[in-house]
Amino acid sequence: MRHFPEPFRIKTVEPIKVTTREYREAAIREAGYNTFLLKSEDVFIDLLTDSGTSAMSDAQWAALQLGDEAYAGSRNFYDLEKAIQDIFGYRYVVPTHQGRAAEHIMSKLLIKAGDWVPGNMYFTTTRLHQELAGGNFVDVIIDEAHDPTNAHPFKGNVDLAKLQKLVDRVGPDKIPYISYETCVNMAGGQPISMANLRELREFCDHHGIKIMLDNTRTVENAYFIQKREQGYADKSIKEIVREICAYTDGCTCSAKKDGLVNMGGFLAMNDEDFFVEAKAQVVIYEGLHTYGGMSGRDMAALAQGIREAVATDDYIKYRVEQTNYLGELLTAGEVPHVIPHGGHAIFLDARRFLRHIEQEQFPAQSLAAAIFVETGVRAMERGNVSAGRDPKTGENRRPALELVRLTIPRRVYTQSHMDYTAEGIINLYQKREQLRGLRFVFEPKQLRFFQARFEPIAGD
Ligand code: F0G
Repeated sequence: MRHFPEPFRIKTVEPIKVTTREYREAAIREAGYNTFLLKSEDVFIDLLTDSGTSAMSDAQWAALQLGDEAYAGSRNFYDLEKAIQDIFGYRYVVPTHQGRAAEHIMSKLLIKAGDWVPGNMYFTTTRLHQELAGGNFVDVIIDEAHDPTNAHPFKGNVDLAKLQKLVDRVGPDKIPYISYETCVNMAGGQPISMANLRELREFCDHHGIKIMLDNTRTVENAYFIQKREQGYADKSIKEIVREICAYTDGCTCSAKKDGLVNMGGFLAMNDEDFFVEAKAQVVIYEGLHTYGGMSGRDMAALAQGIREAVATDDYIKYRVEQTNYLGELLTAGEVPHVIPHGGHAIFLDARRFLRHIEQEQFPAQSLAAAIFVETGVRAMERGNVSAGRDPKTGENRRPALELVRLTIPRRVYTQSHMDYTAEGIINLYQKREQLRGLRFVFEPKQLRFFQARFEPIAGD
């Protein structure tokens, strides 16, 4: 089958605006060449992120009507808690308004100043919270993950030799946990294998180090394990998700992705003392421990979303295969992008797309802006701008991966939107020499990619 069809039909539609190139040129100029600063209504197909952009099901919309908006003890919290316990298997649940709030609380409680936190590549908010808590992030992902042309099937895996080196250097007591992400976002949505996680569990048991899962895209990761890892073809997505979580001590989760909701998150764990402390923190920063920043109806929609994502294997197959479909079109058009194709997004390789723009002139930022002008499709920079500056030296981090992410919202766009997107990007690739680099006109100190403004560097 060339394309696995959407396992749903459309009941409500939202019109989107078709614009001219002149209109889009003015819009991107006004936005300082930063796609985060565009107005959503000026965007034709929004592939900025898969975060909070899902279409909810009729059952989720129905669940919204059953919100119990009590300040304390909402029945929707108890149902959400049960859904998380049933699907992910953790004992204790602390709700938060989104993922970074869970990261904040976890980092504050588990990291002491001077600690080291290894992880399978960084995520922007995750690393920032580790650093704000006084920790130092260390990347221990396998080398293949930094090479966009390497076809390793599990590029999210941890390199245990790198982890061993860190343990030898700083000692296990200085490592409170390893931050382990499923379908590693910054690597291109690349999965971890169960074999890697099993080995990591053994290693961490030996050294007394916790494994804290970034559970944001575990369902997508489970699909790759089912498809690619020996021994998992006959296991359900639900069983695989449960097994992944069982090897870990707890998780943070941005429920705005796999959870199929527009807002929500949680922290979950098996350790009771950690739970008691996390509950004490959540009331300071988020809200009472039975809502944590979500309304009752948000929690109702999330409980339904968590169950729906794994109820059958069809949803996730459609979801990941739709992403792959876009990737295959770009492959056919010879547009350089990260392989294998990730779960939530296709990542264009801006280094190879724009060989004539050097990294200090932000090729990925420039490419994202040009894609918008060419097509009305909004993408996101994931390169030098996102990586930020080294807090010690103040220099740009110059990451190996200089990417533009075309992120597919869940259940929102159809195959023809993918066809249109690919066609526009292939056209742009053919005239890539015309693109120019950018320079900052405003650079925020932290998470600069969200609000930075740029201007084009004039050509010769
Ligand atoms: N962890 C991962 C792997 C993420 O992708 C995100 C968010 C977070 C944590 C933070 O969660 O946004 O709910 O606070 N990723 C979004 C993205 C923003 O576009 O990739 P949050």
